[in-house]
Amino acid sequence: MKLFLHTKIILGLSAIFVVQLGNQKIVLPEGCSTQTKSVAQTGSLKESFKDDFLIGTALNADQIQENDPRAAALIQQQFNAITPENIMKAEIIHPGWDKYDFDMADKIVAYGKKYNIKVNGHTLIWHSQLPAYARNIKSIDSFKTFFAGHINTVAGRYSGKIFSWDVVNEALNEDGTMRKSIFLEHLGDNFVTEAFRLAAAASPHTELYYNDYNNEQPAKRAGCIVLIKKIKAAGVRIDGVGIQGHWHIGKIPLKEIEESILQYSALGLKVMFTELDIEVLPRNFSGADVNQRMKEDASLNPYVKGLPDSVQQQLANDYAALFDLFLKHKDKITRITFWGVDDGQSWLNGWPVRGRTNHPLLFDRNFQPKPAFYKVVEAKKNFDATKKGF
Ligand code: G3I
Repeated sequence: MKLFLHTKIILGLSAIFVVQLGNQKIVLPEGCSTQTKSVAQTGSLKESFKDDFLIGTALNADQIQENDPRAAALIQQQFNAITPENIMKAEIIHPGWDKYDFDMADKIVAYGKKYNIKVNGHTLIWHSQLPAYARNIKSIDSFKTFFAGHINTVAGRYSGKIFSWDVVNEALNEDGTMRKSIFLEHLGDNFVTEAFRLAAAASPHTELYYNDYNNEQPAKRAGCIVLIKKIKAAGVRIDGVGIQGHWHIGKIPLKEIEESILQYSALGLKVMFTELDIEVLPRNFSGADVNQRMKEDASLNPYVKGLPDSVQQQLANDYAALFDLFLKHKDKITRITFWGVDDGQSWLNGWPVRGRTNHPLLFDRNFQPKPAFYKVVEAKKNFDATKKGF
């Protein structure tokens, strides 16, 4: 594949470089452009941030089984933490009242062991992707048996084998109150504390987290802090809080994110960004509620042929600004997980509109690094340079 350093274009104050990689033109922001370094030369994400925080990704069933060698190579090269995108959720791992299917979950645990990559279990208690039999349980006693049995069996099986669990996922409304769910209905608002109590007993050496989206926003953050304090007041262990980080290009809430890092870590908790992606397509609401949908419309799918340079720039700058903030608070943050390896895998190709071509991650559909990748690694170099007073 021939590499031609095309032109240096001066745009206002900053300069960008256009390089030709085979038939692909790549625009590299200033600073990344001195020469189009290969990933190996630039340094991988996990290597670059090894003294700061874990760099993770969400794996789907194909990737866990290493069906695509390109994905397999990139995962091992870039990431030192993995989260199962779907295969540890109740509808898949506990499909019948007393029927469990540990096949894929055992495989991701084996994958983690084989490549020395930390596994974060996702997720023990969530109102979505619950098996039908569980959603239809009428008696409270039966539901309590399901609830306790599920946590004891699943968390018990992987005790000492995985690094951490998202014990409860998305139990709050945007205003910080408890989300209406079958858990709240049958068990009352103490179900979150009970879930952590059961998980701590079933898996004493596994880190336990509460995970949600938009819990960097003031009202939801306040509700999340009330929830965390309630768990702690009950003398029950909780080790960290996950901010999913499903954000939108050009609208990254940096101020609220920083305030959240400070407020959650002030509770003695580890802070993680657990499902990071930056939406580049039009969407008229924030968050990650999979039940929300938008009507299909060609105007909502403008980048089928690829991302325009200006949008690549914005995406790269948004990710760089996030990592500048993460590095500033690296003493409080233990992990940054991207919700997918490459743009082709992203759930955002199918939500909230099916069949779109989205570009929310650092690697494109050919597993090639995008300008955002170089900007993220560069953020680390700048951080270290500043530390050394250069
Ligand atoms: O496995 C079935 C397949 O058999 C069937 O042919 C296909 C057609 O519908 O569906 C497949 O199941 C899909 C599953 O992903 C596996 O690909 C479900 O329809 C689809 O709804 C499910 O989407 C997942 C979504 O959670 C469900 O809520 C996304 O992959 C996953 O990225 C997303 O992840 C959530 C986090 O767990 C929690 N936070 C928000 C985040 C984004 O919604």
